[in-house]
Amino acid sequence: MNILCEHLSINYPIFQGGMGNVSHAQLTAAVSEAGALGTVGAGTMKPQELQKIILEIKERTNKPFALNIPISVQPFLEEVIELVFKHEIPIVSLSAGNPAPFIQAFRDKGIKVISVVASVKQAIKSEAIGADVIVAEGYEAAGINSNFETTTLALIPQVVKAVSIPVVAAGGIGDGSGLLAMLSLGAQGVQMGTRFIATQEALVHEKYKKLIVGANDTETVIVGRTMGRVRRLLNTEYARKLQELEGEGITLDEFNRLTDEAHHIASAIHGDLSEGHLNSGQIAGLIDDVPTVSTLIKTMITEAKTVHGNLNAILK
Ligand SMILES: Cc1cc2nc3c(=O)[nH]c(=O)nc-3n(C[C@H](O)[C@H](O)[C@H](O)COP(=O)(O)O)c2cc1C
Repeated sequence: MNILCEHLSINYPIFQGGMGNVSHAQLTAAVSEAGALGTVGAGTMKPQELQKIILEIKERTNKPFALNIPISVQPFLEEVIELVFKHEIPIVSLSAGNPAPFIQAFRDKGIKVISVVASVKQAIKSEAIGADVIVAEGYEAAGINSNFETTTLALIPQVVKAVSIPVVAAGGIGDGSGLLAMLSLGAQGVQMGTRFIATQEALVHEKYKKLIVGANDTETVIVGRTMGRVRRLLNTEYARKLQELEGEGITLDEFNRLTDEAHHIASAIHGDLSEGHLNSGQIAGLIDDVPTVSTLIKTMITEAKTVHGNLNAILK
């Protein structure tokens, strides 16, 4: 059996990455119920709202799910961690900050810790301080990206070489071939964000799903590079406006305000595309349907097995 699946008690080596404002109860529960790992994106969510979501997931599935805590942006860190303990959430994923002060407390309660990194150095540090699993995310990924800009293809084998805990590849994966490619590079599984937005269960605005399905390979843009706040977005008018303002020397505070949660929710959830940005990875160009989560996961596993079989003939 795949070590990762055994470690986390899941059937398939596929994570749905935490997505602030997007991976709520319905999507997270559907992914876990389908045998992969669903992840609630705590983002900047208030504890009360998060508790409701946790309870709803527990009503929908009794399979394991994870809670993503973006350390540097979550304003109610202590309360959110208390919720993890109170509701005995079996897995946490820590991103966007230094996980060192938190890992031991989770481990003491038997909670598995996933650390999201973007470099070999961060991966080695995460292993040293007790992380159970590394998610290594490349520059193809949706949303907030590392300033290192290392691509998934280059990052994964280097991280795999440097650590001995399971590594999960994120950024640029959207089908069974992508899954197989990452397993070939030594990852134990994959984490996807963009692909899961275009599913039946994702509670985002239909316009967001349509834009991902209609996107081609060059339909994402980077904003914030000059300010050290790299973000990958769909190339909407709002994203182009952000680029323009950046070129005109907008302040970091103003940039942060224009890319905050309220603007993301206005666009992603309410469909007011002129009011906010839409996170998307480069893999959007490959996505051309909106399946149920269960169909997506089954299809990916079948594809990976088929491609694996075909490779034997090519390499003979
Ligand atoms: C709408 C959206 C919101 C996201 N929010 C978060 C977040 O709050 N925390 C986090 O660690 N990653 C976040 N991500 C990144 C995903 O968890 C995942 O690692 C990434 O999307 C993988 O790359 P892909 O989009 O190419 O599949 C977000 C991604 C999207 C699309």
